[in-house]
Amino acid sequence: MPPVRRRRFVLGAGLAVATLSSGALPRLARAASLTPTPRQTEGPFYPVAIPADADNDLVKVAGRGREASGTLLRLQGRVLDVNGRPVAGSTVEIWQCDHQGHYLHPGDRGPRDEDFQGYGRAVADGGGGYSFRTIKPVPYPGRTPHIHVAVLAPNRPRLVTQMYIAGDPQNARDFLYRNLGADGQRAVTVELGPVSGNEPGALAGTFDIVLLA
Ligand SMILES: [Fe+2]
Repeated sequence: MPPVRRRRFVLGAGLAVATLSSGALPRLARAASLTPTPRQTEGPFYPVAIPADADNDLVKVAGRGREASGTLLRLQGRVLDVNGRPVAGSTVEIWQCDHQGHYLHPGDRGPRDEDFQGYGRAVADGGGGYSFRTIKPVPYPGRTPHIHVAVLAPNRPRLVTQMYIAGDPQNARDFLYRNLGADGQRAVTVELGPVSGNEPGALAGTFDIVLLA
């Protein structure tokens, strides 16, 4: 790609994210320095053993005929640095409870939905893009709906965070969410909307993850 076009693309990428995450703040000022995605606790339910099927489709477990219960969620986003440049090759991991609030973890006695993978990973493409097919997260005692996310990018420390759903009434009562403050909350809160296509009732959301340089 010619240098001029490449620069234009990078600037455009930064603006797009700044527009999503900064509201009425000046776009150009924020494009040069995006809000880093805040760190959050890993919690006790990162898998003890990574499942045999650990791909980016958590709704379909290899070898099982049925798909997971719950509301289908197509989650996508990009891994970026604070200047809006894609961080290609990053491994994005997600883990979350099933539609009844149970994790793929021996510390959770279930019963869990065996058709839900519980954990998945994806590698960001050249534009930093990643995607998952999963379910809309549900609350469990003491927590608002969330998806745990970890990102391992080349030559950077591992980032562990959590993603939340915009407008969920339980967010305001969630200790970890409240502790983030307004900027942090904005950086990890995702609007969900309907998906057009052949998956009735499915939702989609975009979670861009910003790593410190
Ligand atoms: Fe959790």
